[in-house]
Amino acid sequence: MDMAMKYFLPHISKLEAYTPGEQINAPGVIKLNTNENPYPPSPQVVKALARLGPDRLRKYPQPYADDFRVAAAEVFGLDADMILPGNGGDELLRMIAMSFIAPGQAAAAPYPTYTLYEVLVQVQNAAMTWVDWPEDYSLPLDELAAVKAPLTFLANPNAPTGTVVECDMVAKLARRLEPFGVLVVDEAYFDFAGGATCLPLVREHPNVIILRTLSKGYCMAGLRFGYAVACRELIAGLRKVKDSYNCDAISIALATAAIKDQKYRQWAVDQVVAERDRMSAELTGRGWNVLPSRSNFILVRPPDGEAKRRYEALKRRNILVRYFGSRRLSDKLRITIGTPAENSALLAAIDRM
Ligand SMILES: Cc1ncc(COP(=O)(O)O)c(C=O)c1O
Repeated sequence: MDMAMKYFLPHISKLEAYTPGEQINAPGVIKLNTNENPYPPSPQVVKALARLGPDRLRKYPQPYADDFRVAAAEVFGLDADMILPGNGGDELLRMIAMSFIAPGQAAAAPYPTYTLYEVLVQVQNAAMTWVDWPEDYSLPLDELAAVKAPLTFLANPNAPTGTVVECDMVAKLARRLEPFGVLVVDEAYFDFAGGATCLPLVREHPNVIILRTLSKGYCMAGLRFGYAVACRELIAGLRKVKDSYNCDAISIALATAAIKDQKYRQWAVDQVVAERDRMSAELTGRGWNVLPSRSNFILVRPPDGEAKRRYEALKRRNILVRYFGSRRLSDKLRITIGTPAENSALLAAIDRM
C-alpha cells in the first residue's frame, strides 16, 4: 500500500479522511449515533418509489433535478433558479469548497462543528482557521470576520452542540464578510429548530448560501439528497463544478414526493422534538449536563465526565451513541433522538450502569 501512496499529491497522501459514524445495521442494535430520523419516509415517497418504472433507469436523469426545484420553489416561495440540488448536503459542501477556496488559502468556521468542513478544505490544499465558540455558543462575530476568509462555514443549528444563532446575528456576519467572502449557513438540522432559518438572507446578501438536506427532517439519509439556496449568480457559478447528473433519477423522484408532503415532515419532526425535550429532562434529572438543543440530537456530559467509558458500555449493550474525543468534546456524548422505545431503552441502560 505504501508503495502506491507516492502517486498521490502530497496534501492528499497526508490527509486524514473524514470518519463517519458507525453504520451497524444488525438486528437489535439501537442506532443513536448518526442523527438519522427514527421514522420511515412519507407514505407519498413509498408510493412514488412503487410507481418508478425501469425506463427511469434506462434514461439519464434531469441534469438540474428540475422536478424537485419546481416543487421546492413552490413550497418555499423561491425562484427555481435559486435552488441547486445535490447528492446529499455533503456533495454541495464539496462543490462549495471547490468553488471558493484555492490552495494555500484559509477557510473559517467556529469550533467545534461538523468535522467534514475541514476535510473538504484540506482536499483543496487549503487550511481551516478555527474560531472557538464561546461557552454560551453565541456567534463569535468579530473573530470570524477578522479571519477575512474567502469561505466561512456556519452550521446552524450547530453540530454537535444543537445550538442556534439567530438570523439577525448571521445577517451581521454576512454583511461583514461581503467584501471578500462567501458565508455558508448549513441548515441540515433546520427542521428541528422551531422555524429558525436564515433563508430570507439569500435575497439581501449576494454572498450567502443556505444548505438543506432531506436526510434528517424528511427521514431519508439513505437517499442522498440535499439542496443549496442562494442568489441566481452563485447558483449559476456552482453549477459549473457539478457532475453532469449529480442526482439520480430515483432520488429526484422521491425527493420531489417528500418535499411536497410538508404535513408528514412536520409530524415526524414533532415526534422527535417532543422526545428530545423528554430526554433532555430525563438526563438532567439524573445529574447529566445537557446543552439545550434545537436539533435532533443532544450533547450531554455524564456526571463523572467519563464519556468514553459510557460510550463503550452502551455499545456492549447494543446501543450506539457518538463519542468524538476531541478538544472540548472528550467528556461528552452526542445522542441522536430515537423513537420513544429506543430512548427509554437508552435511559434504562444508563440506569443499570
Ligand atoms: C452539519 C451537517 N451538515 C451537513 C450534513 C450532510 O448531510 P447529508 O449529506 O446527509 O445531506 C450533516 C450530516 O450529518 C451535518 O451534520
